[in-house]
Amino acid sequence: MKHLPEGYRALVLGASGTLGSALKAALEADPRCATVTGLSRRGTPPLVLEDEATLRAAAEAMREAGPYALILDACGALRLDGRGPEKRLDDLDPRALARSFEVNAIGRALVLKHFIPLLPRQGRCIFGVLSARVGSISDNRAGGWYGYRAAKAAGNMLLQTAAIECTRSRPEAVFAALQPGTVPSPLSAPFLAGHPTVSAEEAAQGLLAALDTLPAQRGASFIDAKGQAIPW
Ligand SMILES: NC(=O)c1ccc[n+]([C@@H]2O[C@H](COP(=O)([O-])OP(=O)(O)OC[C@H]3O[C@@H](n4cnc5c(N)ncnc54)[C@H](OP(=O)(O)O)[C@@H]3O)[C@@H](O)[C@H]2O)c1
Repeated sequence: MKHLPEGYRALVLGASGTLGSALKAALEADPRCATVTGLSRRGTPPLVLEDEATLRAAAEAMREAGPYALILDACGALRLDGRGPEKRLDDLDPRALARSFEVNAIGRALVLKHFIPLLPRQGRCIFGVLSARVGSISDNRAGGWYGYRAAKAAGNMLLQTAAIECTRSRPEAVFAALQPGTVPSPLSAPFLAGHPTVSAEEAAQGLLAALDTLPAQRGASFIDAKGQAIPW
């Protein structure tokens, strides 16, 4: 990451996941990066999106070794409590919709609440979150996947709102919602047929390169692994 300060520190949330672990490995290979810390649900301290106390405690535990010029949130879930994405209106279930929002939108909002304060106040810094192209309202041409799409769109709105607030005090901070491409992982495995895929390593390299050159602005960007803007 050539545009972050030499010796920058990085934090990857969801580091147990396919994309989270690839992002962590890519940062470990960056000679400019001094430390990369990964947090995850079964790690120490644990990071459980449905439990704000774990997010608060994990952020507090990370504070002393900070600030972190790069924070990436690679958490997210498509299949929850044994239920996959809905194909049609008739499949909608209130509990399943609420669970997707709990993890993909509210969990994300609480991550922003507790981890944005770990960014430095001065200089360039980056907060990137794994979103998904299916969370784009204007790009939705295929339909289906109601809960995941809506929760990702809500997560994007929460990011944009937090970015507007936080770029007031950190004018060089970059906030971005990220589309990695279709990456084989436990999350995507049942839905890969007929889709061209990219490896997690390739997606991670692309996302980091895109983030490195993304200019700071008032609010967040929504980009893919080639750095192309995605319509909200
Ligand atoms: N793969 C794709 O093609 C693709 C495409 C577009 C967007 N994305 C997005 O990219 C992100 C990463 O996906 P992935 O493909 O790497 O999936 P993955 O391998 O299943 O990783 C998901 C990560 O999220 C964590 N997680 C899930 N629910 C959690 C919860 N309630 N509390 C704390 N952590 C939780 C998992 O923790 P555990 O290890 O403990 O389960 C894991 O670290 C997601 O936001 C996904 O929506 C992926």
